[in-house]
Amino acid sequence: MSSLLEVRDVKKYFAVKRSFRQIFRRAQNHYVKAVDGVSFSVERGKVLVIAGESGSGKTTLARIAMKAIEPDSGTIIFEGQDVTEYSGERLKHFRSRVQMVYQDPYSSLDPRMRILDIVREPLDIHDRASSKSERTDKAIRALQDVRLEPAEIASRYPHALSGGQRQRVALARALVLRPALIVADEPVSMLDVSVRAEILELMRDLKERFQISFVYITHDLSTARYIGDNIAIMYSGKIVEQGPIDDVLLDPLHPYTQALIDAISEPNPDNLHVEKKIRIKGFSSEGADEGDDDIRGGITDQITGCQFYNRCLYSMPACKAKEPALLAVKNGHSVSCFLYTQTSTVGSEERTG
Ligand SMILES: Nc1ncnc2c1ncn2[C@@H]1O[C@H](COP(=O)(O)OP(=O)(O)O)[C@@H](O)[C@H]1O
Ligand code: SF4
Ligand SMILES: [Mg+2]
Repeated sequence: MSSLLEVRDVKKYFAVKRSFRQIFRRAQNHYVKAVDGVSFSVERGKVLVIAGESGSGKTTLARIAMKAIEPDSGTIIFEGQDVTEYSGERLKHFRSRVQMVYQDPYSSLDPRMRILDIVREPLDIHDRASSKSERTDKAIRALQDVRLEPAEIASRYPHALSGGQRQRVALARALVLRPALIVADEPVSMLDVSVRAEILELMRDLKERFQISFVYITHDLSTARYIGDNIAIMYSGKIVEQGPIDDVLLDPLHPYTQALIDAISEPNPDNLHVEKKIRIKGFSSEGADEGDDDIRGGITDQITGCQFYNRCLYSMPACKAKEPALLAVKNGHSVSCFLYTQTSTVGSEERTG
């Protein structure tokens, strides 16, 4: 069965503004390599989790995949069609098939619109063949699908809703066109912990009931296993490990993935290991240390070799000379790290130390 979405070797570099001094000294332009040669696919009716620290390029990748921004290079195949160059009517159709849910439930809904109008708006744009009352009925059904009570909520404004209710409205708005794919960019990270599980459970239910695929973006692996089928771990604009979610989270290979898992303070059940020493230099679960400017997603254009070199406890001289490729190790589980390739076997015994 072909994939629903295939993203092939996409890149997006952003120019970093030079200071006056750098311009005066004619310093070279630098680029943030926000996304640097990333490929992944999403199967129909499955959830791909994209995980990584803040600044690793997750949002840029999501925006490329849903054609909100143009990649510098690379290809996007959706439902078997190359949509990379789509514009006009074809782009509009693509936009009706792929919807986004954003991180911030407080700013993603138009505060001047009532909830029913917010949810009906995508139909007003994309489903002009239906009458207004038919579109209203569909919007009401979408509110019910996300377990909101339309009679109670339809005529309210977003400010009168809790964060969790707003994220449900955002999901209803995404759902109302019955898209094939919803891209959810850290949809629960700004919600109370008590509400997070409800929203994740709802997304899982929507996936099952409507066979919708999701790209679920998070910096928090403790939510990933609950919802994901497959996972891609991003570091500094690249995927460093990917595969079926149980394989990756129960047997993480890349030192970075191991560190992310070690950082989970309240893991889901099923024994993701807890409270281990974090095996990484300069790590915080929210993102890299502010002062460590060569490890934040991107100001890395001068680093050769493995981008993780400066933080890796298992680094070897070979890691600095050349960049490791993302290679399959077993059953669709791939990793980019010299500990697992022929290039260098030195240090493989140290890995478990
Ligand atoms: N429009 C932009 N202009 C310049 N740099 C950007 C822009 N968008 C993102 N970046 C940079 O690209 C890198 C990746 O950002 P982002 O995709 O937002 O990561 P994440 O979602 O994982 O936090 C960061 O270094 C960020 O500062
Ligand atoms: S390639 Fe080397 S530096 Fe990079 S993650 Fe693997 S061991 Fe660490
Ligand atoms: Mg982001």
